[in-house]
Amino acid sequence: MEQLMRNTLLYLSKNRAANNAAKKWGLRFGASRFVAGETIQSAIDAVRQLNKQGIVATLDHLGEFVFSEEEAIESAEYCIRTLDAIHESGVQSNLSLKMTQLGLDISKELCMNNMRRILDRAKQYGNFVRIDMEDYAHNEITMEIFKELRREYGETVGLVLQAYLYKVESDLDDLNQFKPNLRLVKGAYKESPEVAFPNKEDVDRNFIKIIEKHLLYGNYAAIATHDEKIIEHVKKFVKEHNIPNSQFEFQMLYGIRVQLQQQLAKEGYTMRVYIPYGTDWYGYFMRRLAERPANVAFVLKSMFKK
Ligand code: FDA
Repeated sequence: MEQLMRNTLLYLSKNRAANNAAKKWGLRFGASRFVAGETIQSAIDAVRQLNKQGIVATLDHLGEFVFSEEEAIESAEYCIRTLDAIHESGVQSNLSLKMTQLGLDISKELCMNNMRRILDRAKQYGNFVRIDMEDYAHNEITMEIFKELRREYGETVGLVLQAYLYKVESDLDDLNQFKPNLRLVKGAYKESPEVAFPNKEDVDRNFIKIIEKHLLYGNYAAIATHDEKIIEHVKKFVKEHNIPNSQFEFQMLYGIRVQLQQQLAKEGYTMRVYIPYGTDWYGYFMRRLAERPANVAFVLKSMFKK
């Protein structure tokens, strides 16, 4: 039953009509629990609140599966304005973005041009831009884009790898030539068992495997999970192998496991919260519901509350 609900939510997350309608609705159905607001100012305010608690951030101007050149260029403009706002306000945050948001489905060239404009600005500010990993259909091309941009922009750019993919370990080995800063996650999209582990235990096992391998390679790891067992495992592992706290950080999503975020920051770990903002919240929100169908009850309650 839970699996059916999860699959339905992931299927709905790609519904373009609902996505377009949601842009006009404003933040509804409890989405404000997971999305900081619709404006840059609301996002900067959210970062400031977290910074006060010793937590850093990564801002994501929401957008994905963009199919027109104008939308892709507009989205890049938002990313640049976000970098400007971070710089001007002095808050501690970097930027996360998606390749489809910058026009990857229209052409790689358009996406690369948009990325170069964003990375030029990030480099100017000494900031950092992380490329989120999307569904499997975009995986190879995103890897390719990352490699090209890593050669051009060095440490200004980072990538995400997903532990649920069978190929993730060979991708990790391949990327090691760049000594990259990688965010490691379990993986959030609905994928076929031909490319991704269908069972959670296998995903968890592979997640730990790639975290350990990346750390032992001596590379910077952003360990993005709300899973306490994995977090505890990482804490022990870094101690046993004398890996300094400066070689990794924990990351969680805005509004999820807030107390754990605060606790890790208090313990002296770098804790970074991923803060999405903007009007294009629908796909992101549906994936968060799919991760934890118990959240659906929360959404239903908020729908019926005045
Ligand atoms: P898991 O799903 O096993 O959850 C562990 C526990 O965390 C749950 O028992 C619950 O208590 C809590 N929890 C998890 N999700 C919750 C939710 N939605 N609401 C409330 N509680 C929840 N994926 C991807 O494919 N590409 C990407 O680029 C990214 N980027 C990214 C950045 C950051 C900062 C994070 C934290 C995550 C991502 N992800 C992602 C999403 C990731 O792949 C994964 O889907 C989620 O993190 C959920 O998996 P967990 O590791 O938290 O474990």
